[in-house]
Order: sequence, then C-alpha cells, then structure tokens
Amino acid sequence: MQIEVFSLFPDAFKSFLEVSIVARALEKHALQVKLTDYRQSSTSKHKKVDDYPYGGFAGMVATPQPLYDALIQSLKPGSAPVIYFTPQGRQLSQKILCHYAEYDRLILLCGHYKEIDQRIRNLAVSDEISIGDYVLSGGELAAQAFIDGIARLLPNVLSDPASAHSDSFYHPKLGFPCYTRPESFMQGKVPEALTCGSHAKIQAWADEQSEILTRVRRPDLLQTKH
Ligand code: 6GU
Repeated sequence: MQIEVFSLFPDAFKSFLEVSIVARALEKHALQVKLTDYRQSSTSKHKKVDDYPYGGFAGMVATPQPLYDALIQSLKPGSAPVIYFTPQGRQLSQKILCHYAEYDRLILLCGHYKEIDQRIRNLAVSDEISIGDYVLSGGELAAQAFIDGIARLLPNVLSDPASAHSDSFYHPKLGFPCYTRPESFMQGKVPEALTCGSHAKIQAWADEQSEILTRVRRPDLLQTKH
C-alpha cells in the first residue's frame, strides 16, 4: 500500500510515522508513505498558498494553483482515489477503512485554512472524509487517523490479526472490558467468568458486556443495519 499525502505541514506526520503499528507497517514494507508539501508548487513570489474568499466571507481559502500543480503530477487518470479531509465529508467509519485498505495506492489531501478552492475538489477529489462533528485547524490529524486505521488492516502488520477483528466497530457493537494479570489488583478482582476456563461461558460474558455497553453508550449502533 502506497499512500501519498499532500499537506502544507508534512512535519506534522513525522513523529506519527515513527511509532507503534504505523511504524511497524512501514518497517515491514506493508505500507509506504510519501509526504508532499504543496507550498513548494506555488508559483507566486513568496510561495503563497491562500487568499481571501470571494463573497467576503471570513477565513482564508487554499488557492487552486499549487494544489493543481502538485496533485496533477502524481495523477494518472483513474489511477488512485483522491481523498480530501474536510469537516464537510462523510464521517470516517471502520467500513470506509476496510474499503480503502484494499487499494494499492491512495492519495490523501489535507486542507488548512477554511477550505480549499472548490474547483480542485471538482477536478481531482474522489471522496471527502471527516472524522467527526467538530472543527480542527486542518486535515492532518484526520489523515493520520485514517492512515493508522488502514495500517492495522494491512496483511502481516498486526502480530495477532484476530485482534483487529474483535476490536470495537468491526462488529457493530462496542468492545467489552479487558483484564490482564494480576488477578487481584487494588481490591479489584477479575470477573469470575474470565477465569472459569469454559470458552462458551467466556464468550457469553463478553457478548453480554458488549451488549450492555453499546446499549448505554451507543444505542444508535444497535439500530443501524449492517
Ligand atoms: Cl477532516 N478536517 C478538519 N479541518 N476538521 C475536522 C475534520 C477534518 N474532521 C472533523 N473535524
């Protein structure tokens, strides 16, 4: 999987790419991430990449020229999805991650300022993704959430692939409480069901706990069809 990221702040990705599962995916060559600073493609004297919006609205808009020049160079027609991160996008989900984890190559576009010029979206963007109903200063954190979620789905990245499948949201229910050793800690005991040795009982306990937590915190998940 090759991911190309277009951002005005490629440095924001540096430490993110150096730790945990994403670092392991890079090390194992399951994932390759190329960062491009599209400011470098600006033809203006001071490498300007933003301007005031037409209509006199508040905020700044990323100008189309640097993005066009940076992006078009890496675009062969229909070669890879171009995903733009914006609060106007559809909300990221495990289903969307699973979909994109199947591709060989993805192009991620991070805006900063208010938005990027709409014409770039019309010309080059194939999908728009948000990570929730709140406003961040740019798409970089959203792109990182996306890359992290993809990396752990790639073959040979997780040491225990089953753990990706039992994670919250793979199934449309929240996960269950987890315990490790010691069996007794600060007067808290591991639930008996987990130490009884019966796989059927353990599974029944885990399912019940998931069900309860989902009903309390995310009743919406139980209503949607999957
Ligand atoms: Cl993708 N971008 C920005 N700027 N803010 C967001 C977001 C994306 N998703 C949620 N908030």
